[in-house]
Amino acid sequence: MKSYSIALIPGDGIGSDVTAAAWTVLETVAGNFGFALTGTEFPWSCKFFKDTGRMMPQDGIETLRGFDAILLGAVGWPAEVPDSVSLHGLLLPIRKAFVQYANIRPHRLLPGVTGPLRAENFDILCIRENTEGEYSGAGGRVHQGTLDEVAVETSIFTRAGVERILRFGFEQARARRGKLASVTKSNAQKYSMVFWDEITRKLAADYPNIEVTSYHVDALAARMIMAPESLDVVVASNLFGDILTDIGAAIQGGLGYAASANINPGRSAPSMFEPVHGSAPDIAHLGIANPVAAIWSGAMMLDHLGEKAAADRVIKGVEAATARGIGTIPGKDRTEAITAAVVAALT
Ligand code: IPM
Ligand code: MN
Repeated sequence: MKSYSIALIPGDGIGSDVTAAAWTVLETVAGNFGFALTGTEFPWSCKFFKDTGRMMPQDGIETLRGFDAILLGAVGWPAEVPDSVSLHGLLLPIRKAFVQYANIRPHRLLPGVTGPLRAENFDILCIRENTEGEYSGAGGRVHQGTLDEVAVETSIFTRAGVERILRFGFEQARARRGKLASVTKSNAQKYSMVFWDEITRKLAADYPNIEVTSYHVDALAARMIMAPESLDVVVASNLFGDILTDIGAAIQGGLGYAASANINPGRSAPSMFEPVHGSAPDIAHLGIANPVAAIWSGAMMLDHLGEKAAADRVIKGVEAATARGIGTIPGKDRTEAITAAVVAALT
């Protein structure tokens, strides 16, 4: 029997609630489709930081490298550990170390879910650059704490990094409806973003059948709300993609529905799958977190592992549950009830 080794990092807050739910669904579908998933859980989290002074052990990256994929819940417990410390100690280093340069985030309404917009028939795939740009971590502070203090944080855009994410976007557009929106702010940022626009134009020549449009990020943000049906694949830098995908989550009914995949397209290291939402400390372990985003992320993991039929089945299961109104009203259904409804719809 085919078997996949999965590193489970539930992380903080509702991360463990939704990861457990996703894992239940994934194990069930694996059984139905005749493959095995072996999960190895790592307790890396803010609690782990309090106990050890680190978000993950020194050899954490090397430990993860041997797995076929990583399923992550959420990272952050700002009351105990500053977010800038917890995220730079766990989530962000994994994305970078494993060259997970394409962060894929689908935004569409599940059946039965009411979004805040009149528009209902949108289906947007955001592709966010995930290893460099504004999140490069290059910078510093001098004269700290004095009136002369200076803080510098430099965005880094490399030709290799911009080309590969744009090419990935073009390929996704080719596999979908053939439209690519490339997002910058090149009217204001005249080096990095003009560079991105130039590379977009250069690559467009290789994809004559793709309709590519360059947008400024502010205009694209408005378009996601005013005319989301006009968009297909959206490709953006790390920070712009981060912001746009929270808009994407909002228009699809909320963060409880927003899934994501941090993909290493070259498969030189494991990819990581995680809901877009955070750890939501206020509702942690109350059994009321919506597991749909985590389950959907799990389906994206199966797809990446080559189990497309099982992945499609999970999505169908989620759709069957939400179509019955389960998991569609915040706080109405418990995590367990939503998970059980998805599991019941798998067979
Ligand atoms: C996300 C999150 C993270 C990000 C944070 C927690 C660092 O907001 O995955 O969208 O900005 O990448
Ligand atoms: Mn975000």
